[in-house]
Amino acid sequence: MVAFSDIGGSRKSSKKLINLLRGWPNTSLLPTHLIEKASHNALSNKEIAFPGMLYGPDPGDPRLRKNVASWLTNFYQPLAPIPPERITITGGASQNLACLLQVFTDPIYTRNVWIVSPAYMLAFRIFDDSGFHQKLRAVPEDEEGINIEFLKKEIRKSEDKASADGNNAPHVKPQRAWGKIYRHVIYAVPTFSNPSFKTMTLRRRQELVKVAREYDALIITDDVYDFLQWTSSLSAQTQSLDKAVLPRIVDVDRYLNGGAEREGADGFGNAASNGSFSKICGPGLRTGWVEGTEKLAYGVSQTGTSRSGGSPSQLTATFVAETLESGELQRYVYETLQPAYGARYRKMITAINKELIPLGCTVPQTDRDVVGGYFIWLTLPHPLKGAVVAQRAKDEENLIVAQGEIFEVPGDTDHAHFEYDLRMCFAWEDIELLGEGIERLACVIRSLQNDQKENNSTMQLATENRGGAKNFW
Ligand SMILES: Cc1ncc(COP(=O)(O)O)c(C=O)c1O
Repeated sequence: MVAFSDIGGSRKSSKKLINLLRGWPNTSLLPTHLIEKASHNALSNKEIAFPGMLYGPDPGDPRLRKNVASWLTNFYQPLAPIPPERITITGGASQNLACLLQVFTDPIYTRNVWIVSPAYMLAFRIFDDSGFHQKLRAVPEDEEGINIEFLKKEIRKSEDKASADGNNAPHVKPQRAWGKIYRHVIYAVPTFSNPSFKTMTLRRRQELVKVAREYDALIITDDVYDFLQWTSSLSAQTQSLDKAVLPRIVDVDRYLNGGAEREGADGFGNAASNGSFSKICGPGLRTGWVEGTEKLAYGVSQTGTSRSGGSPSQLTATFVAETLESGELQRYVYETLQPAYGARYRKMITAINKELIPLGCTVPQTDRDVVGGYFIWLTLPHPLKGAVVAQRAKDEENLIVAQGEIFEVPGDTDHAHFEYDLRMCFAWEDIELLGEGIERLACVIRSLQNDQKENNSTMQLATENRGGAKNFW
């Protein structure tokens, strides 16, 4: 099995390693010049440098909160501007997923974590760490994103079980003025998903918020790819798209049917959006933000580790605040990253259309006007298995791809099983190698299909020689 940490390549093949598994930005796309300038400006100004190098406020650098709020307002165009109070600065999406679970869940009272699947595999350990190892449940996707009917049916069963068990109050976590304990958590990557590449439709986002409200669930979304978008047209050069295609789930929760402050609601809301500078600036910054209602944003800032010394990444937060304030990071995203990732995407999808679609492979949601993110999800022609293709690609072609099973929710694969799929990243590998990577993958698939044809003819022959005995093989 090719593991997701497996980047060593093949010892048997003399071909140059092509790694389509790693989900990192290519180093040529890191805006080191912007961070160099921003850090110089920040560190040479005592007003910024001293607070930056000391313990900071719990919700994070006020300047970054303000600048993030204003960028998000421009990008998502909500009905009213996003106030900084809805933002808490974090150590990135992964770190803050852990904080949200620390403040807003109880490993017993919180019945389940519902994970839209295929799922971002590195989130599983974070759920385990908060005691949800045996409570992870996969929710399959269809062409519109999350399968809501499935989720509703299963949540009802989970609630019935909780009633039967008398699970009526938090067991482990104390009640605290700044927090609440939700009964369920739903985890999704609704836009340009890692790994499924899909975008959840607006209708599904709205339905999901309604379900979350009905069953007291906190929807945690990693909205980390939203800015990396471009038109799906293969002929066009990438135009900058400085407005989001869809509202986030946190935006839907802010407004739908009276929003999170509607009568009878507790004001915490049912959605938290994890944003990150990892994909649009550099993952080594370990800096991001979370948006939710003011109560939720404040609550997560009260995580024990933030109470002791302030939000993480205090110093890097001052660098990012600086580059956002000058508008340079936003311009970099629209004028450099979108065209660069768009060109990489076109290179890969053009090769897929030429080499893999004729072999029977498919990609999801081919009717979208705008696509984005880092990854393309590929379903193999039946009966080829991802694990077999990935292993042979590594051994014979020195090509690393991720087999679908890596993205299955541990312990719950009955309804979301990805034996016949692969994920490929177009962000990390050199752009010149993306087309060749797909050509090598096509060689592997063709050769497996040929093996299969030969096996079938041998089987046919054997069946005939045995007087037509059926099901012998
Ligand atoms: C869906 C998703 N969430 C979170 C992360 C990690 O984000 P961060 O670096 O902000 O922790 C990634 C990175 O691959 C991702 O794809």
